[in-house]
Amino acid sequence: MKIKPFLTEQFFALYEFSASHVLASSDCETTSIAELLDLSGGSLEEFGKVELGYTETQGHPEYRRLIAEMYESAAVDDVVILTSPVEGIYLTMQTLLEGGDEVVALSPAYDALHHVADHVCGKVQLWHLVPTETGWEIDLDRLKSLVNSKTRLIIVNFPHNPSGYQPTAGELEQLVEIARSNDCWLFCDEIYRGLETAFERKPAIPSAAEIYPKAIVLNGLSKTFGLPGLRAGWLVIRDKQIREELIGWKHYTTICPAAPTEYLSIQALSVRDKLAHRSREIVRANLEICAEFMKRQSALFRWRPPIAGSTVLVEIDLAQLGSHQTQPFANTTDYCHDLAQNHGVLLLPGECLGCSDRFVRIGLGRAGFPSALAAWEATLPPMAARSESHSGN
Ligand SMILES: Cc1ncc(COP(=O)(O)O)c(C=O)c1O
Repeated sequence: MKIKPFLTEQFFALYEFSASHVLASSDCETTSIAELLDLSGGSLEEFGKVELGYTETQGHPEYRRLIAEMYESAAVDDVVILTSPVEGIYLTMQTLLEGGDEVVALSPAYDALHHVADHVCGKVQLWHLVPTETGWEIDLDRLKSLVNSKTRLIIVNFPHNPSGYQPTAGELEQLVEIARSNDCWLFCDEIYRGLETAFERKPAIPSAAEIYPKAIVLNGLSKTFGLPGLRAGWLVIRDKQIREELIGWKHYTTICPAAPTEYLSIQALSVRDKLAHRSREIVRANLEICAEFMKRQSALFRWRPPIAGSTVLVEIDLAQLGSHQTQPFANTTDYCHDLAQNHGVLLLPGECLGCSDRFVRIGLGRAGFPSALAAWEATLPPMAARSESHSGN
């Protein structure tokens, strides 16, 4: 089978570990094993005693108990531990879909959310997020028109990567109603959950797992909790039959969680509020710096401030940006390659995520954001040169 290229991973693979100024990441600032154990009251000595045997396929009961606590009404048995968050997307699509099924998926999106479904059933209809003057919104009437009797699954991601959008509780309820009235499954990727309060609007919305029995919810420790190297993720699946079928697929992928990850994840979950608080503080501070930058550079860039999550989309006026060059950039993908290669600044081209070629994604979760942003700004054409070229047009 010919699979679609995973453009985000391919782009990151070129530069992520060599660029000096990484501005594109979606994860929040990470921590070392020693720091984590210090925070949780664990010890390296205890960690050293972890046995490296197989673990339980569904995940250690204590691990699942700590996760179930994060939801109003999830039971320990509803939780399936993954060997990475992205594994949950693969397992869900394999479990729910087959040829002939149709899927409706919010766009833009993290590549796997569209492509795995497409590989399995071949028909993914895109439901586009709508830009407004000040932000983004969902078009629920459009969703209604896309869903039909063949639609098996609706895929969404809130808080949303890359836009930083999140619906209100009322909008989420209406979305669920559309799924319910069409008897569809709803896959809700909630991996940025907990980063809402970094923003003024504080949109507290319930997990989809609380309000719809046919919701499958993905989360993990990579983003809000800043621990992507743990490769720790989970699904909440209320439906027993689907859960068991999915565990059947897991036997063909990773069988069970890695024992060291399981130990460290339990430690991390025991201090999850502290980890999430730290991430929110970083995002909040970076968001202020980003807002100032966007104001200063408004002739080149337009942004729609995020209301949740750790990422934001920036729309670039490529003609204006290239006005001091002999050959302006054709699209943001060319621009991002040039920035990474010649200035060591890493932005993610929006095209990787299904955006138009004027967008780039930047991440707000890293402690190095202010200096990386300054490095980007240093590459921009000077203001005076810009306004001259403006007046010449
Ligand atoms: C929306 C979304 N879901 C899932 C993932 C996968 O997370 P991980 O790479 O930790 O498996 C990502 C990673 O960027 C993501 O942005």
